[in-house]
Amino acid sequence: MRKSLLSRTPTALLLLAVALLLSSCGWSMWDSPMTTVRPKSGFGRITHEIFMLMSWWTLGIGIAVEAGLLWVCFRYRERPGAPIPKQVHGHTLLEVSWTIVFALILLIFAIPTIAVIFKTQEAPAATALRVDVGGRQWWWEFKYPDLKVVTANELHLPAGQTVAFNLHAPDVIHSFWTPQLGGKRDVVPGRVNRITLAPDEPGEYPGQCAEYCGMSHANMRFRVIVHTKADFEKWVAAQQGPPVQPTDPLAQTGQDLFSRSACVGCHTIAGISGGVLGPNLTHFGSRKTLGANLLANTPENLAKWIENPGHMKPGVLMPDLGMRGEQPKALAAYLLSLK
Ligand code: CUA
Repeated sequence: MRKSLLSRTPTALLLLAVALLLSSCGWSMWDSPMTTVRPKSGFGRITHEIFMLMSWWTLGIGIAVEAGLLWVCFRYRERPGAPIPKQVHGHTLLEVSWTIVFALILLIFAIPTIAVIFKTQEAPAATALRVDVGGRQWWWEFKYPDLKVVTANELHLPAGQTVAFNLHAPDVIHSFWTPQLGGKRDVVPGRVNRITLAPDEPGEYPGQCAEYCGMSHANMRFRVIVHTKADFEKWVAAQQGPPVQPTDPLAQTGQDLFSRSACVGCHTIAGISGGVLGPNLTHFGSRKTLGANLLANTPENLAKWIENPGHMKPGVLMPDLGMRGEQPKALAAYLLSLK
């Protein structure tokens, strides 16, 4: 009984390994929006192509090495009466040959890789759209210096346009990464890193901080919304405008509450406040998510967030301001009115 269980164990392990492999590398790899295998920019494509090239080459080398290993195992297997094969330990010609062969293989690998590294570091054209990206614990600020637009956590871009990102961080190291558009690139305090890419087509692409940066690193997400050129211009025009004055009484109460409370110390709403520690909220109501792409931007979620931000996002720097009862609802009504 024990023997039969033991003899089945390798088969069971093999099946488990195959199941794990299939579940991780199956269609989910293609369907997931966090995939790098369906690139949607030139940057994404060239890095994907070099990845595939290296994968095929290493697969070929792997097959050749395994075939050689199997041949040796078979050829020199132990047989009754067979002598011990000739020992080749310290064979100078053999050792020199395989050192040279593998050095050459690494050199061949390096040629296209280095070409891609230089290509992905090219300086952007003067016509590129400039976006300053601020990676902060734990949200993203996006400033368009030429358009005089500031937003957070939702990056709007026009399709087909080259975008030059300047990446900086006021606190710790983050990493700017939109898997389908290409990257990733570290965002380092005390220096400006750059990345240039051009999204191919309209769509929504999730992004994520890819460098561990503290308690809510996993919650430091963003979305890239790629528009047609005309839609992007509409979005820019709306963002450049002043915030809409609320007409709804609850929202008016919220505006009053905002102006009188500690909110103004951290957040900017054009014409109302000038805080810069937290996201600019001038057009907060136009965003689909809150808390760095953590939750849908609904009145219920926003009121809960205001009441206890740390409960929804561990470690968040926004404190509990003691807003209770109708206060979070009024603030939520006001902020969501800021289209
Ligand atoms: Cu920012 Cu991880």
